[in-house]
Amino acid sequence: MFKKPIIVFEGIEGSGKTLHINYLAKYLKKRKVKFIKLREPGGNKGSEKIRKLILNNKSNLHKVTDLLLYLAARNENLENLIKKNYGKKLILLDRFIDSTVAYQHYGMGIDYQFINLINNFLIKNIKISVTFLNLVSPKNLRLRLSKRKNLNRYDKFNIDFYKKIQNGYIKILNKKKNKYVVIDSNKPISENKEKIIAEVDKLLK
Ligand code: TMP
Repeated sequence: MFKKPIIVFEGIEGSGKTLHINYLAKYLKKRKVKFIKLREPGGNKGSEKIRKLILNNKSNLHKVTDLLLYLAARNENLENLIKKNYGKKLILLDRFIDSTVAYQHYGMGIDYQFINLINNFLIKNIKISVTFLNLVSPKNLRLRLSKRKNLNRYDKFNIDFYKKIQNGYIKILNKKKNKYVVIDSNKPISENKEKIIAEVDKLLK
C-alpha cells in the first residue's frame, strides 16, 4: 500500500471528525510518522483568509459565491501544500472535495457536474487513500448543535439541512469513487479511535 497516504475526515457539524483527526495526529506524532494536517476551508495563510470571509457572520454571500470561495481556498492548499507534500509526507485533511458536493450540491442544490468539473480540475492526479465518514444520529446531532458556542455562518442552519447533507454524504459513499470507512459517532469514542488507528496502520504497513 501507498506509504504516504492522503487521509480525509468528512461529516456534518457535531459528527466528531475534528476530534478524531486531532487524535490521529497525536498518534502519528507518537509513531514519528511525518505528516501535515490541514482543514478546509482554511489550511494555509491564503485559505484561512478566505475561511474568515466565508464563515464570518457578517458575510451575506450568494451560495455560488460561497462555492467559488471554497474552491479557491482548496486551490491555495493544493498549490502551496498538498502537491508539494504528496508522496513525501502523510497528509491529513479535515474536509475535502466531498464537503463541497455534500454541502453545495446536496445541501444547496448547485449543479453536481459543475462542482465535479472544478474539483477534478483542481486535484488532478491526487488520489485519496481513505475517507473516514463520520455519521451522527439526529438525536445526538440536536444535542451537539445545542452545545456549540461561537457559532459561525455555517453552524446556524436548521437540523433538516444537516440531515440533508448527511444523506448527501451517504449518496457519495454509495458511489464509492475512493475507499470509505464509516465512523458511527453514536458509538463510544474509544471504539472509533481504535477503528481509525487500525485502518491507518494498514496504510502504513
Ligand atoms: P468546519 O466547521 O468543519 O471547519 O467547516 C466549516 C464549514 O464549511 C462547514 O459548515 C462545512 C462548510 N463547507 C462547505 O460548505 N463546503 C466545502 O467545500 C467545505 C470544505 C466546507
